[in-house]
Amino acid sequence: MSKKIIKVGIVGAGARGIGCFGKLLDGTAGVEITCLCDNNPVRMEHGRKRLKGEQRLYAKPEEMFEKEELDAAVITSPDFLHEEHAITALKSGVNVLIDKPLATTVKGCKNIIRTAEKAKKAAMIGFNLRHDPTLKRLKKIIDDGTLGKVFLIENREFYDGGKTYMSRWNRKREWSGGLWIHKGSHDFDVFQWLLGFPKPVKVSAVAGLNVLNPQHIPFEVKKGKPVGPTCHECSYQKSCPDVAIYDAEKFPEWNDEARKCDDYSRDLCMYTSDKDVHDNGITIVDYDSGARASHLECFVTSLTDRLYTVVGDKGQAEVSLHDRTITVRPRWSGDVVTYKIAEVKGGHGGADTGLVYSFLEFIRGNGTTSSTAEHGMWATAVGEAAEIACREGKTVFVNELMKAACSS
Ligand SMILES: NC(=O)c1ccc[n+]([C@@H]2O[C@H](COP(=O)([O-])OP(=O)(O)OC[C@H]3O[C@@H](n4cnc5c(N)ncnc54)[C@H](O)[C@@H]3O)[C@@H](O)[C@H]2O)c1
Repeated sequence: MSKKIIKVGIVGAGARGIGCFGKLLDGTAGVEITCLCDNNPVRMEHGRKRLKGEQRLYAKPEEMFEKEELDAAVITSPDFLHEEHAITALKSGVNVLIDKPLATTVKGCKNIIRTAEKAKKAAMIGFNLRHDPTLKRLKKIIDDGTLGKVFLIENREFYDGGKTYMSRWNRKREWSGGLWIHKGSHDFDVFQWLLGFPKPVKVSAVAGLNVLNPQHIPFEVKKGKPVGPTCHECSYQKSCPDVAIYDAEKFPEWNDEARKCDDYSRDLCMYTSDKDVHDNGITIVDYDSGARASHLECFVTSLTDRLYTVVGDKGQAEVSLHDRTITVRPRWSGDVVTYKIAEVKGGHGGADTGLVYSFLEFIRGNGTTSSTAEHGMWATAVGEAAEIACREGKTVFVNELMKAACSS
């Protein structure tokens, strides 16, 4: 095993860049975060203070990759920049871990894959759900044959997501690709992983913004006293049940000084913000193995859970990620078993730790990447197909999307 120190640079010193990957890598033996890159110098400086060492700071990725000698880069900039930033890293001979989604279009994903192949470097996608302890156990139950051949997966995700998806850059398709790509790519990847990587054939989807709009402001609005635009500026802070104000002392990276640099607030009013994403929807996917899956997501709820039903020709399993339970029901017997999965500490139920560990093991030459750029591309393909299906009201054939991405 190589004892060499792994030198890492992070592009995008925001919530994931510092709060997740920065903190995890910082605490790992044999790893040094040598540099950070962010176009917001105030946020980046505050990010550096949360890490050990004295990282060199850069405003532009091309400058960072030219000057630094890195073994790996973590790309945690907003989704629409992943393609550009990953390609810059790969071209300078650096392995990359790109947080999901790989890119916001299939074409962008293909560009990353081609560049990685040419540079003979790895591009890994940050599908942390694959490291969720409950889903890992479910995958083992499926692979052991307990359920027989799986032909149907139903998944419902409930999450109070207004503050996450309607209050910052991901509320716009031009920056996030739309929520079927930005967030759904996680879920579409889980389907493919659980099913043994069949190819998605066709995708149907419906979605809408039913509640997180100005018609559903949950308090009385007085004439001449407008709502928002951000929670910290809003005069209805006391009456709004959804108020979310960043504590500038605790999170100085989101304070007024940082905001002045790029006009980026994380607390736009979830009801009045300009947006073109959905707050609920359903996608159905058909695979070439004959299996099919449905994914429902709803961001207007007090519940936080991902619930799965997985059906095979010998039995079915019901799963709650929140409760960390898996109930297996054999088809011909009443021998129902419920497994309670042990809690693992860390971000996303320990899944972030597993993801980073797997990336580092790969860089050290101790294994293959658990989730490749190719996997990222198929998840983006289903997400992009779902976005088109919603907008154009039609079923989208994934091979046509792939062909169009190759020809354009
Ligand atoms: N895997 C997961 O569970 C998970 C969860 C949340 C977010 N994400 C992904 O992580 C990524 C980052 O999300 P976040 O929530 O940390 O966002 P964030 O807004 O907190 O951080 C993004 C950072 O990128 C910086 N940035 C913007 N333009 C830049 C540029 N041109 N060059 C360099 N830096 C630039 C911003 O200033 C900001 O600091 C996104 O791709 C998101 O989809 C993944």
